[in-house]
Amino acid sequence: SSPAADRPKRVFLAKPRGYCAGVDRAVVTVEKALETYGAPVYVRKEIVHNKYVVETLQDRGAIFVDETDEVPEGALVVFSAHGVSPAVHEEAAERNLRTIDATCPLVTKVHQEAKRFARDDYDILLIGHEGHEEVEGTAGEAPEHVQLVDTAEDVAKVEVRDPSKVIWLSQTTLSVDETMIRVEQLKQRFPDLQAPPSDDICYATQNRQVAVKAMAPECDLVIVVGSQNSSNSKRLVEVALQHGAQASYLIDYAKEINEEWLDGVRTVGVTSGASVPDILVHEVLAYLAERGWGEVEEVTTANEKIAFQLPRELRKDLV
Ligand code: F3S
Repeated sequence: SSPAADRPKRVFLAKPRGYCAGVDRAVVTVEKALETYGAPVYVRKEIVHNKYVVETLQDRGAIFVDETDEVPEGALVVFSAHGVSPAVHEEAAERNLRTIDATCPLVTKVHQEAKRFARDDYDILLIGHEGHEEVEGTAGEAPEHVQLVDTAEDVAKVEVRDPSKVIWLSQTTLSVDETMIRVEQLKQRFPDLQAPPSDDICYATQNRQVAVKAMAPECDLVIVVGSQNSSNSKRLVEVALQHGAQASYLIDYAKEINEEWLDGVRTVGVTSGASVPDILVHEVLAYLAERGWGEVEEVTTANEKIAFQLPRELRKDLV
C-alpha cells in the first residue's frame, strides 16, 4: 500500500452495527418492568453482555443475580436475552417467582429445534462456546441428546448412537466462517450429518460480520466496541483480522483506546457488537475526531428493519 503520509486520515463506520432486535427488546423489557412494577426488579445474569447497559440499569433499580436462588421468594425476575434451560423455569416456579422471559425469539427458535430433534431421538451436535449462557440454556432443553462442540478437538471426541440420525445446531452469535469449518470437520466423521432447518446464527450476527468484512481490507486498525464477555463482539475482532485489518481491538469505552494503536494509522474502521448502545460508538468517533480523524464514511452492507414484540407477560400489564 502507499506510504502512510499520502493517504488521508479517515474513519469507516460499519452499518449495521450495535443493537439487534433481541437486545433492544431485552433492555426495554427491564426498563418497562422498572416503570410498571417499581424497583427492585431482579435480573438473572447480565440482561445482555454489555457493561454500560448493566451499570445503567443497576442505577435505575435492577438487581443482577447469577441464579434464581438469590431472588427473594415471590419477587419479580427477568430472564436474560441469552435464554434459560427448563430447569431454571422450574426453580423459579418452586420459589414462587414472578418471571418475565426476555429470551431473544431467535434463541427460542434454536431451543425449539433442540426439543424437536430430541423428540425424534437424534443426536444433536451443538456448535458453540463452552460455558456461554446461551449454550447452557439450549443444551438444557435436551441434556440427554445434546453434545457441545466448541473446538476441533471436540469434533474428534463426539460419539453418536446412530450416524444416520445426527444433526448440528449452533449458538446464535458465532463466526459464520468458523462454524462452517466445524461443520465440514463433523461431516468428515458423519457424512449424513443434517443441517438446522434454518440458520441458527442470527441475522444480526451475520450482518455485523459482513459489514466488517467489507471494510477490513482497507483498514489499518479496526476498533470494535463491546464487552469481553460478548461473543458476537469478540467475533468481530477475529473477522476484522482475518479479512485484512492490520490490527483490531475490543473496548468497552473510548477511554480504553491506547494512543499507540494510532501510530502510523490512516484508516480506522469502527463497529460495535449487538449489545452495544450507539452512544458508546459516538464517544469513540469523538475521540478520533479530536485527533484528526474527523472524516467519517458509513459502510452500509444491509438495512435492518426487524423488531420483536415485548414479552407477553409484560405486555399484558402495559397501559
Ligand atoms: Fe437475538 Fe441475535 Fe441479538 S440471537 S439477541 S438477534 S444477537
